[in-house]
Amino acid sequence: MAKDKKTILVTGGCGFIGSHIAETLVKKDYKVRILDNLSTGKLENIAAIPSQKIEVLLGDITDIATVEIAMKGCEYVFHEAAIASVPKSVKDPIGTDKINYAATLNVLEAARKHSVRRVVFAGSAAVYGDEPTLPKKESMPTNPITPYGVDKLASELMGHCYNRTFGVEFVCLRYFNVFGRRQDPSSPYSGVISIFCDRIFQGIAPVIFGDGQQSRDFVHVSDVVAANILVMEHPDAAGRTFNVGRGKATSLLDIAHLLNDLTGQNLQPIHKEPRPGDIRHSLADNTALTALGWLPKVTIREGLAELIKATQIAA
Ligand SMILES: NC(=O)c1ccc[n+]([C@@H]2O[C@H](COP(=O)([O-])OP(=O)(O)OC[C@H]3O[C@@H](n4cnc5c(N)ncnc54)[C@H](O)[C@@H]3O)[C@@H](O)[C@H]2O)c1
Repeated sequence: MAKDKKTILVTGGCGFIGSHIAETLVKKDYKVRILDNLSTGKLENIAAIPSQKIEVLLGDITDIATVEIAMKGCEYVFHEAAIASVPKSVKDPIGTDKINYAATLNVLEAARKHSVRRVVFAGSAAVYGDEPTLPKKESMPTNPITPYGVDKLASELMGHCYNRTFGVEFVCLRYFNVFGRRQDPSSPYSGVISIFCDRIFQGIAPVIFGDGQQSRDFVHVSDVVAANILVMEHPDAAGRTFNVGRGKATSLLDIAHLLNDLTGQNLQPIHKEPRPGDIRHSLADNTALTALGWLPKVTIREGLAELIKATQIAA
């Protein structure tokens, strides 16, 4: 493990996004510690990281004592651990809140006790709710319509409170639709791209709820990692909230067409009834983050091509 670099805690570091953050930090020679309970994360997600370069604590963020142990000696924290599922939060609002909000408070409080310099929080575009004005700017009113969105908003408010009141620097990144390798396609709650990709790769038509014209701002996980690392030390980031999206909308039909094109198939999507609560369009205004120097690099096509290649190698 590198001796001269700062120790960084990644909660949820065995998950999809957290594992990519951890991997990149290790490549940059930081000392990385992960806290994860493996509820949706997997050790195989971090298998490519040499074990001597990473410390993995298996434990739950709902337990403050565990979080305090994990936080000891850390200068920065990337707080990714959560139940990353809107439908699960609708099914079990109390259980979800314990992890998605109350445990964020554990992270903030432990950060305060251990004089952590900065906490970077995995927020969500879900805080905007279903108000149709697009693109979404950080200054727009928030109006989450699900327990997941409310917990994310409450977490960011508490983070900003810790920033102002206790001097724990806090940055909230509101992720839009993140996609890339290691997003688990086996979960029905997972990102639409990983599910489509998995089906198309097996020669099975993707299922679209509704007409498929609904659109999302898909952002590749490597660009999300770059956003996290940029705001970790940037002098103008503390105390602020940033959208993390490419600022480009892609419809679900377009994703299905692109995947067909890239795999040389012509699988027509199966259309089912629209799901209640699904928003029609989502699009980020990313000018605040690009003004800080962030530039999303991976196009949807490039990201999908990489995902297909990774799926082929894994098969
Ligand atoms: N994937 C997206 O498109 C997206 C969009 C917006 C926000 N986010 C947020 O980004 C973060 C990472 O999401 P992801 O897509 O990588 O999800 P993920 O499920 O792959 O990762 C979450 C990780 O947190 C861990 N975890 C869950 N509960 C825990 C607990 N109680 N204690 C310790 N560890 C726990 C899981 O085991 C997993 O490794 C989450 O906070 C999510 O809400 C994701």
